[in-house]
Amino acid sequence: MAPLSSPQKTGKKRIRLKKSLKSLIEFRGGNQVDQTQFQSTTRKLYDGPAGAVLYLASKLSLHDPLVGRIIKTRRFDVTEFRSILDIGSGAGQILGHLLRETHPDARLVACDLSHQMLKRARSRMDSQRPNYLSADLTNLPFLDESFDCVTCGWVLEYVTDPRHGLSEIYRVLQPGGSLFLLATEDKFSGMLNSRTWKCRTYNRVELEQAFEDSGLPWKEQLWFTPIHQFLKLGGIIVEATKPTEPATTSIQSS
Ligand SMILES: C[S@@+](CC[C@H](N)C(=O)[O-])C[C@H]1O[C@@H](n2cnc3c(N)ncnc32)[C@H](O)[C@@H]1O
Repeated sequence: MAPLSSPQKTGKKRIRLKKSLKSLIEFRGGNQVDQTQFQSTTRKLYDGPAGAVLYLASKLSLHDPLVGRIIKTRRFDVTEFRSILDIGSGAGQILGHLLRETHPDARLVACDLSHQMLKRARSRMDSQRPNYLSADLTNLPFLDESFDCVTCGWVLEYVTDPRHGLSEIYRVLQPGGSLFLLATEDKFSGMLNSRTWKCRTYNRVELEQAFEDSGLPWKEQLWFTPIHQFLKLGGIIVEATKPTEPATTSIQSS
């Protein structure tokens, strides 16, 4: 009779299977080039046809309405913020929700690597409120502690080392300020998405460690719906807070 496999063996098998799937399916391009080259291919991708269909894709995948639901129902409460930076604003998916749900006097800044995406966002938003500028997450053109909130939806996947993006977010956030971040998880659906959108995925545990290392401990993990939570789907959605006292483990951007 074949010996029953122990839970440890099953766990190891599962990890090996996940690694094989990851190497087969996930987009690996970002690992093979340096950050400057990765940025240049990312900019080309979003300047081109992929960027033109991004808004429609986020409607069809329900990402856009589901993010809107988190903001509208105040599971991530934006009503008290007065100065908000949306990084990698894309077609203005998060920005649109911020325009509706934030205080009318709140300052809104949208930045993106792709000029075309900024143009698309500007033409979609029927508002003079946001300022748009071209900027890279790993080198933000803002003074330290400029914002009390940063939103960043599906952008950290374009950074080879997440700490380089997170330390910049840490720098521009005021003490006590909040970060709302969404990232593609290293699940099957995330790996497929990474192929389509030419980005990397994140392991939840490793990403949490990167946040800790950058001085931005997770305050809460969020889920689109209870069904997403039950099935552990929908990717990594977190609220993190910059402590009011500087974190001793925080790293500086290189
Ligand atoms: C998948 S889209 C996400 C759009 C939007 N945030 C959303 O929630 O749907 C990624 C966006 O991030 C931008 N992006 C990629 N890398 C970036 C970087 N290093 N700095 C700033 N923006 C970046 C892309 O140009 C693109 O518009």
